[in-house]
This record gives sequence, structure tokens and C-alpha cells, in this order.
Amino acid sequence: MKAIVCAFLLVLLPVFAHAQDQGIKLESANVDLSNTASLQRGAKFFVNYCMGCHSAQYVRYNRVGRDLGLNDAQLQSYLIFTGSKVTDTMVSAMPPADAQKWFSVAPPDLSLESRSRGADWIYTYLKSFYLDPKSGTGVNNVVFPKVSMPDVLWELQGTQKALFSTIKNPDGSTYQVFDHLELVTSGKLTPEQFDRADRDITSFLVYIGDPVMLKSRDLGLRVIGFLIIFFVFAYLLKREIWKKIH
Ligand code: HEC
Repeated sequence: MKAIVCAFLLVLLPVFAHAQDQGIKLESANVDLSNTASLQRGAKFFVNYCMGCHSAQYVRYNRVGRDLGLNDAQLQSYLIFTGSKVTDTMVSAMPPADAQKWFSVAPPDLSLESRSRGADWIYTYLKSFYLDPKSGTGVNNVVFPKVSMPDVLWELQGTQKALFSTIKNPDGSTYQVFDHLELVTSGKLTPEQFDRADRDITSFLVYIGDPVMLKSRDLGLRVIGFLIIFFVFAYLLKREIWKKIH
């Protein structure tokens, strides 16, 4: 009986998990892993804007280079600022103990972030910071309330404020729900350009979460190509054999 109840609760788990996100609609990241230029831009954003705090310790620079068409010299001039070698993994220069002290939570390694949170969550998260004077960093986040990460992309995106609407309960009491975000000051990029930058970063995180994915797509196409050619030969062979039998 216990086992049946456990199984039932396990089945319901995603329903509860979903209920927690209720009301916050994730935007679609529209990641396209075949867009190498986007992945290259994402890599550059990642080293410039994220690696000050986060590492991607399972990813080697030269693996990124090989997958994204960058040679060692290009890696050294575009992606490596920490004095690392091309054979090193992408480790942040910030000592984890200091990070823990400054932000109260150590910035997590982002190698597998896209697998745990999903692309749409990351994409929406990066564009959902808003000004909140009550928070220590001066900002809060719609999909990650009370987050301790500062709004590191504010220079590009600009700053935003959150607008809430007031909902009335049947008993007359009220509560606030998030409605939408509004730009307060504009950044270096237009909203469209910022969305593209956000998509580039998200795509890069999806790629490092599963670098084999690029290869598997390649392999998949080759297998299909092989099957088509094989089919033609099989068909010709079949015709040849049946000709003799008739
Ligand atoms: C100044 C330091 C700093 C920088 C720079 C920074 N982050 Fe963070 N980030 C943090 C901290 C601290 C947390 C942990 C937040 C928490 O748990 O409250 C975090 C959390 C996150 C999370 C959520 C992790 C989770 O819990 O699933 C993601 C995703 C993320 N960062 C992505 C990025 C990306 C992408 C960039 C670059 C555009 C970036 N961060 C730049 C400090 C930083």
C-alpha cells in the first residue's frame, strides 16, 4: 500500500513543481545550436559578463574552440582573460570562499545549468531583473525572488521596474501579483538587441550542458544520408534480382 501511495505522490510531483511557478510565464529561448555565430557571441558574453563569478569547470577552452570553429590564437585573444591555457577548463578567477563571503551564496558552476533549469528559464531569468531598494544588491528577479546575483547585464539592458496588480479576495483582503516589467533607463542595446544577446548566452549554456549534442546532430544527418543512399542501392538490387526471377 505504502508503495502505491509513494508512486502516486511521485507522479504528482511535477504538478506541484509546476504550481510553484504559477503566474510567471517563461519566455521561449528559441535556441538554435546550428547557429555557430550565436554560440561564438554567447561564449564571448559568458567570459566577459559571467566568468567573473561563475565557472564552467567541466568545459575546456579548446573543446569550445574545436566545436565553435575558433583556433588556439583566437581562443587566446577572444575568450581567455584569466591567464589560463587553451587546455584548461573554464574556471572563474574568483576564489569560491570569497564569492561565498560577498554574495552569501557561492555562484554555482554553470556547466550543467541548462540541464537543471532548462533554456527558457535561463533566458527569462537573465532578462527579469528589476530594481528593488529592499534588496542588498538593489535588484530582485521575477523568476528567482530574493536572488543574490546582481543584475550584471544592466549596462546592456538598462534598468527595469516591476509593476504589480492588486487582486481582491472574496473576503475583501487584497494581495499583489506580478504584472509586467517596464524599462526605467535604457541600456546600450535596444530591447531587440538585448533579447538576441540573452539568446546567445542561453544558447552557449545549452551547448556546454551537452557539447555532444552538436556532434549527435551531425551524426544523425550522416546516418539519414547513409540510409537514403542505402535505400537506393537496395531498391536497384531488388529490381535486379526480381528481373531474373520473372
Ligand atoms: C557578480 C557575480 C556574478 C556574476 C558576474 C554573474 N552571476 Fe550568476 N549568480 C551569482 C550568484 C551569487 C548566484 C546565486 C544566486 C542565489 O542563489 O541567490 C548566481 C546565480 C545564477 C543562476 C541561477 C543558478 C541556479 O540557482 O539555478 C544563473 C542561471 C546565473 N547566475 C547565470 C549567470 C550568467 C549567465 C551570468 C553572465 C551573464 C552571470 N550569472 C553572472 C553571481 C554572479
